[in-house]
Amino acid sequence: MADEGSAAQLPGPETPPARGVTRRALFKGAGAAAAAGATFRALDALAEDTGPKDQGPGKGAVSLSVNGKTRKLEVEPRETLLEVLRLPLDLTGAKPVCDRGTCGACTVWLDGAPVYACCILAVEAEGREVTTVEGLGNPKAMHPVQQAFVDEDALQCGFCTSGLVMSCAWAVKTHGKDLSDAQVREACAGNLCRCGTYPHVLKAALAAAKEV
Ligand code: FES
Ligand code: FES
Repeated sequence: MADEGSAAQLPGPETPPARGVTRRALFKGAGAAAAAGATFRALDALAEDTGPKDQGPGKGAVSLSVNGKTRKLEVEPRETLLEVLRLPLDLTGAKPVCDRGTCGACTVWLDGAPVYACCILAVEAEGREVTTVEGLGNPKAMHPVQQAFVDEDALQCGFCTSGLVMSCAWAVKTHGKDLSDAQVREACAGNLCRCGTYPHVLKAALAAAKEV
């Protein structure tokens, strides 16, 4: 038999079920949804007028500045800067080793600072200056860091080398003749070398700093 307490908890005609919706709440919700819809439509219209265009999944035009030259390309939005540098642009100095931001073999400069090219989309590099190891120097006119790597025998298999050169060259550019042992180590902290060339890399960077 039901007692008074349990009878009081049953929904009566004036009490809507806990998960039900009253007509009043329904109309209030519909009004809010309509207002939100209008807001979103207004934002959509604004984005159409002033915002970036949708990209992908197909190729779209992009203009990159690489080693001081403007390169106009068609790329898919998913393509990384590393992929675009190596394939259409044939700049193979930056290496795809881990392809996930851990080894530093793909290091290039973006606006003068080292980045992992495997972790930057090519479209993100538009409007910024990209410098690769090919842009630092060439066999006939080497950058002081490139020359010092040769002189100090700072490479073995070479997979990590262009990335280490870019990090060391950034350290030399940033600290000049005052470059310290600790600053080279810090600059190269994101570059791994399976062949263990670190002591020679350190000597090369310090030697190059004396040349600038
Ligand atoms: S290939 Fe980019 S960090 Fe390893
Ligand atoms: S020289 Fe071989 S990984 Fe560095």
